[in-house]
Amino acid sequence: MPAPYPTLNLIFLALPFGSAFDRRSCFETATALVKNQSLSPTSHFFFRDTLDSLAYNGPENMTLTLEGCNALCGAEQTWYTDIGPRITIWLVPILLLLANVELSPLDKRRFLAILHLLGDPIDSIWSLLHKLDAWDRCSRLAARCSGVCPSCQGVIASVFAGFEELQGPRITSERYFGSLLQQRSLAKHFNEWRRAAVRLADGRSNEIGRTVLAFVLYIVQLIAAFVPEVGGAPPGPPGGRIATGVLLSWLVPVIFLSNAIGGLPSHRTAYDILADLAANTGDKPFHMPHRRSLFLPTFPSIAQQCYTDYFRALGWSGAIYTYRPWKVRYISSTHHRHLHTLLLIAFATAPVLIGLVGGVLILWYQLPTGLNCRHVWLVGVALLWKISAFITWVSHRPGLATGKYHWRLTLIKDICVAGPSVFIMLLSAIGLFNSCWCWSGPFQYPNIGRVPLPETVYLQNAKSVYPTIVGVTLLLEVGVCVVVAVVWRRGLRLLRWREKTRQVEWERVMDGKRCKCMYTGGRSRQSFIIHY
Ligand SMILES: *[C@@H]1O[C@H](CO)[C@@H](O)[C@H](O)[C@H]1NC(C)=O
Ligand SMILES: *[C@@H]1O[C@H](CO)[C@@H](O)[C@H](O)[C@H]1NC(C)=O
Repeated sequence: MPAPYPTLNLIFLALPFGSAFDRRSCFETATALVKNQSLSPTSHFFFRDTLDSLAYNGPENMTLTLEGCNALCGAEQTWYTDIGPRITIWLVPILLLLANVELSPLDKRRFLAILHLLGDPIDSIWSLLHKLDAWDRCSRLAARCSGVCPSCQGVIASVFAGFEELQGPRITSERYFGSLLQQRSLAKHFNEWRRAAVRLADGRSNEIGRTVLAFVLYIVQLIAAFVPEVGGAPPGPPGGRIATGVLLSWLVPVIFLSNAIGGLPSHRTAYDILADLAANTGDKPFHMPHRRSLFLPTFPSIAQQCYTDYFRALGWSGAIYTYRPWKVRYISSTHHRHLHTLLLIAFATAPVLIGLVGGVLILWYQLPTGLNCRHVWLVGVALLWKISAFITWVSHRPGLATGKYHWRLTLIKDICVAGPSVFIMLLSAIGLFNSCWCWSGPFQYPNIGRVPLPETVYLQNAKSVYPTIVGVTLLLEVGVCVVVAVVWRRGLRLLRWREKTRQVEWERVMDGKRCKCMYTGGRSRQSFIIHY
């Protein structure tokens, strides 16, 4: 067979691996041997259901035992010869999705956020949901201001969200927002509030179009993996390599969520807007205190503490939406806090679980049907992700590590998870599990082994079972996005003003006219208290 990647093959030939396991050539050898009678059709190389039943030795049902496979196909593990197409078939769509995750504008921390995403997907989704949830809460709080019209409530909520953006971890209870209303003279300076809200809403990026395009491209790539009319002749019947793509399908909710939330071009934007608001309403100057980080304060010999200037602490104090380790503490001020946390965790785990089940099913329908070697790494990687999220959650304690120290610990942990899991995905794609033992169903047929050689079943699966699994998995992932969008719809609407709304609100700012609800009946400041 001509080698498409000569250099790569040279590298792999230099590795101490023996003759190839190649289903197709193995099948040809076995049929030829039977045909010219060098191999008896009743040989124990052929699999049979029970000891004295018929052997699987015909061209349609040729199945070897582990011993037969070792003798006829070569016992050693071998790398594939068509590594390029095998990897690109799942890597290209995944890279496409990764490139479209909306990340913080913090230059090199952007890449740290990708690292956190790959090493800790559950925590990343959880954090994104928590951001949405925080907005949702701002929206609900503003809605509880009595006697304020809906459009003005939208303005109040948007300014709340601006404060949430900056103060992030420092907000431990909803009373923070109540005190904001009391400090700033809302009725008198409402126009300044409106100006700040319009600027905040205008500042957010909106990349939904790009996201949908990336998602469509991802789907086209996946279809191309099954349909030769779209993707050209595949390097062999699809199977394991699709499982990797399906395992990573949690990236779909991540791109939709992160893009729905959007981002600010820079965090100085939000700061400037709120500082202007403070200046224009005659409030005391807006000032961001330094952020404190603690590391093992209870062990004086290694304890560390430091204070960081706000703009240098952005990476771990709210600017990266996929890293919000204070998420449990913030929720703890509400009534149904356990239920609420559980809801967030459930939605954060669902995408990863859906991908895992899809991947396991695809591997299950490889031949021989059932558990095989690849399940071990697939489930192993998913378990690692779970443990990773657990570590991130548990390690953020005032008595353990906070701030900068927690961020560093988390990144080290993420490297330890992301590195090996990406590595094993690549190794599996290029043939780490390509050996007689792995293909013989070592868990269902221990010792005997069962290696079906004809490719017909694979081709059938590629037409029916695999597209179904992939389709259902993607539908479920999109379903998660839809449910999230419905449950947190208030939060989503908060800073996603429609162009018309922005225009109307902006015109009101320019006119400087007060909203009716703000000056009817000589309203006193007390009217704007939030009813908890
Ligand atoms: C039978 O075919 C195999 C493989 O094609 C070959 O190696 C072997 O020499 C042949 N044996 C006879 C007896 O022709
Ligand atoms: C496999 O196929 C061959 C010929 O096509 C047939 O003789 C044999 O009985 C089949 N084995 C089983 C177990 O069905």
